Amino acid sequence: MQHNLAIFASGTGSNAKKIIEYFKHNPNINVCLIVSNKADAPVLDMARTNGIPTLVIDRPYFYHSEDILNFFNQFSINFVVLAGFLWLVPSYLVRAFEGRIVNIHPALLPKYGGKGMYGMRVHEAVKAAGETETGITIHYVNERYDEGDAIFQAKCEVKPTDTPDEIAQKIHALEHRHFPAVIEELLEQK
Ligand code: GRF
Repeated sequence: MQHNLAIFASGTGSNAKKIIEYFKHNPNINVCLIVSNKADAPVLDMARTNGIPTLVIDRPYFYHSEDILNFFNQFSINFVVLAGFLWLVPSYLVRAFEGRIVNIHPALLPKYGGKGMYGMRVHEAVKAAGETETGITIHYVNERYDEGDAIFQAKCEVKPTDTPDEIAQKIHALEHRHFPAVIEELLEQK
């Protein structure tokens, strides 16, 4: 089966880049589209450099129309990856891609998840709570922030001397190591 991925990202897109590189020579898995809610997000430059089409969305388009489904049809998108995308996914999209949307969260859900828990806020909260470990969660997406079924978790140690920045670096390393391979494994089962 041919898997055609759309990756949603709001920021740098280092995870999106890893996924693109990982599947570059895989004939069955194509990253076909990068979607962002920010017209100046660095992830869009990265996509263009890699020759991948991009789509910039705004709130009316995403929440008050279902036009993105038609856009997806043009690219035969059949799997969606959220990699640093901060908006809630509307229910029409969750329904249309039931079991085919995954997100990565930079903590061990259900801890440090939910609305407003993203980026450095997560690592600052982990540090403030004096956690001795943290990690990443890859999970299915539903209509609530960070609540879909977990697919995969990986942990790392938090040393008492670690700053939130250092925790963020460890987390990014874990994400880059695992996210593409977990996506590949999921797609192989489909
Ligand atoms: C990652 O830490 C991811 O877990 C979170 O947003 C961050 C995105 O980083 N959801 P990047 O843009 O892929 O570098």
